[in-house]
Amino acid sequence: MPDDRLIIALDVPDAHAGLELATRIGDAGTFYKIGLGMLTGGGLALARELKDEHGKRIFLDMKLFDIGATVEAAVRGLARFDLDFLTVHGDPQVVAAARTGAGASGMRVLAVTILTSLDRADLDACLYRDGEIADLVTERAARAFAAGADGVIASPQEAATIRALPEARGKLIVTPGVRPAGSADGDQKRIATPAAAIAAGADHIVVGRPVWQATDPKAAAEAIIAELAG
Ligand code: C5P
Repeated sequence: MPDDRLIIALDVPDAHAGLELATRIGDAGTFYKIGLGMLTGGGLALARELKDEHGKRIFLDMKLFDIGATVEAAVRGLARFDLDFLTVHGDPQVVAAARTGAGASGMRVLAVTILTSLDRADLDACLYRDGEIADLVTERAARAFAAGADGVIASPQEAATIRALPEARGKLIVTPGVRPAGSADGDQKRIATPAAAIAAGADHIVVGRPVWQATDPKAAAEAIIAELAG
């Protein structure tokens, strides 16, 4: 039984490999994330093909950041592609411009709070103000929602605190950093199982390597869906 709470990250180099993978996954994959790594490998063309010819939902992970007018123009252009989710950085003026660009298209603008690859020393180097990263993430989420974000990207550990924000009512929380029991962590540090991420308040989970690196990607996706159903 397909479950679109599972978003599979197609972190393969090009559209050809992405289509082959999606074909192998078949009905178990209903929602795919296409990111910057595939931008020069036909990522947008793959997004359209998966959407128009295979009926899949698409999360385009572009993490846009620029002056408002440029973000708005970029998002307005992308909104014509009939995509489902698009990421921008969570700075309020970027989010507001993206929201304007998305208009009534139905494309949801998701804000990246603080990249999970950054630690406190990195934030110091970027002149981020003092404080625990978890607190800053929650505050950035609240500000992104206030600026019009339809949702945020957050680690499973942050999902519960964000879900409790009054500003988060009716908003989406999408969590990467998800690992089914028994799969390798890779470089992910703040991880949770699919069921735990949903229990913490996530609407969707993003899973990459445990599916696309599996010997049988379809079986790997089906196992995650079974866990979500259980
Ligand atoms: O392979 P894995 O399941 O770790 O992939 C997770 C996906 O989510 C990757 O595409 C990665 O770039 C993305 N992502 C993440 N952590 C974030 C934001 C995005 O892992 N904070």
